[in-house]
Amino acid sequence: IPNDFEKMLSAHELLTKFYHHLLINTKEGQEALEYLFTRGFTKELIEKFEIGWSLPHWDFATRFLQKRGFSAQLMEKAGLSIRSEKDEGYFDRFRGRIMFPLHDSKGKVVAFSARSLNNEQPKYLNSPETPLFNKSELLYNFHRARPLVRKDQQFILLEGFADVITADQAGVHNAIATMGTSLTDRHVQAIKRVTDQVIICYDGDSAGIQASFRAATLLSEQGLKLRIAALPDKLDPDDYIKLNGAEKFKNEIIGASLTFMAFKMLYYRQNKNLQDEGDKLQYIEEILVEISKLRNAVERDHYLRLLADEFSLSLEALKFEQKQIYFAEK
Ligand code: UTP
Ligand code: MN
Ligand code: MN
Ligand code: MN
Ligand code: MN
Repeated sequence: IPNDFEKMLSAHELLTKFYHHLLINTKEGQEALEYLFTRGFTKELIEKFEIGWSLPHWDFATRFLQKRGFSAQLMEKAGLSIRSEKDEGYFDRFRGRIMFPLHDSKGKVVAFSARSLNNEQPKYLNSPETPLFNKSELLYNFHRARPLVRKDQQFILLEGFADVITADQAGVHNAIATMGTSLTDRHVQAIKRVTDQVIICYDGDSAGIQASFRAATLLSEQGLKLRIAALPDKLDPDDYIKLNGAEKFKNEIIGASLTFMAFKMLYYRQNKNLQDEGDKLQYIEEILVEISKLRNAVERDHYLRLLADEFSLSLEALKFEQKQIYFAEK
């Protein structure tokens, strides 16, 4: 006899197939399917990622599951149904949305993220934390990407589902994504069990740039080797690939990824006018602080020389100042 945990897993598996069927084969799913085609998702991709459609009815999924022996109470625990305050009945959490199944590292569907069609908020509605699903642990596409990544290879860390799916179509199969939340220690532990190399390629908007900085800090603190692929014009990987094609993404974005230090140099330059005396001195100070954090003397020397060249400063003065900062922070 299956226990509650196993029943919750089978409910997700059943619903994944059912939502997918509704999207692909029924009139009810047609508008959503057209939306996905318009975005450039092919039939093959929709099948590979098991994308679906939830009907906009009050309790269709809850009844569907009840008929198959899954109690509504248990489905509430699984995050699929919600108990109504008024009449103590149960209704579906996901209604009238595009369904993305979320798999755990073993490949079992443990949750859903559901995208609205017409800009209703939230854009993505996620399963709550349940006995099956922990947001701070799950990485989208990890179960598919993991077997493809060897010890000396990298994961590509993206922000969203659409980014991972479009990257996959572009031939980048080692992409994974956090669930909109920031990268956590537990995500990093999962990555570390496979490889110590990550390329971060978050959205090119200011939220994405901030998040890249935080994720890179965490990854480097945990001893991973990382690079950062920066996207232009506030684009995300999905937008970029659709605009510029797979080859450009691979060669000019992923292939031209930056070291953390090179990224910091771009980062601290934002919103500064380096012709301005005050901005320039502030920038140099910020970079010297970052250089002081480097443990490798050759690296420190390399970046000090870059700074000296760019601003026509003496290397001795920069070295002196950098040592002051280093000892002040000790
Ligand atoms: P984005 O806002 O960048 O969305 O959020 P996106 O991935 O580009 O989505 P599209 O292209 O408009 O469809 C990045 C990720 O943050 C999470 C999702 O995981 C999303 O993929 N997110 C975003 C949520 O969980 N809820 C939200 O309301 C929005
Ligand atoms: Mn599956
Ligand atoms: Mn974003
Ligand atoms: Mn995005
Ligand atoms: Mn997007």
